[in-house]
Amino acid sequence: MSVSLHALKTLPRSERYETLLLLVDSQLHAEKDRVATLSNLSSLMMGLVDDLNWAGFYLFNGEELVLGPFQGEPACHRIPIGEGVCGKAFASREVIKVDDVLTFPGHIACDSASRSELVCPIVVQGEPVAVIDWDSPHKARFTEDEVILIKGIAELIAAKWIQLTD
Ligand code: SME
Repeated sequence: MSVSLHALKTLPRSERYETLLLLVDSQLHAEKDRVATLSNLSSLMMGLVDDLNWAGFYLFNGEELVLGPFQGEPACHRIPIGEGVCGKAFASREVIKVDDVLTFPGHIACDSASRSELVCPIVVQGEPVAVIDWDSPHKARFTEDEVILIKGIAELIAAKWIQLTD
């Protein structure tokens, strides 16, 4: 499925976020390969959420989080559960919004440009399986609008997770 982000980037924020959710759902219905699907979702998130320098996934391998499809600078390959913003969001099964990463104890710096971060676990049948991670070069970039959006994306992925194959 081909999607051109150029025109969509000019939409007002609320319409852009609604469109992003529709496109995420459509990608999840179009393809069952996990890497292919999450790769396109990374592109959609990076393209349609303003002021991100990193957007992607860390996937649970049964022991720790491993870097999945993403857009942005090369990132750390593995994050232990309970460590960093990603490992803490995964362990707590809660969204973590960090307004200033320099003040977050244990923050793992992958891109030194990152100043704020939003991480949402993907929870399937009560168990976390992955996280979505967004970084921004601006302090306090993320608002309640982005929390609602990232949770919506995580719920759509969770609903299709079992059907996605390696
Ligand atoms: N900052 C994250 C690590 C991943 S990068 O931001 C891509 C963390 O503290 O878990």
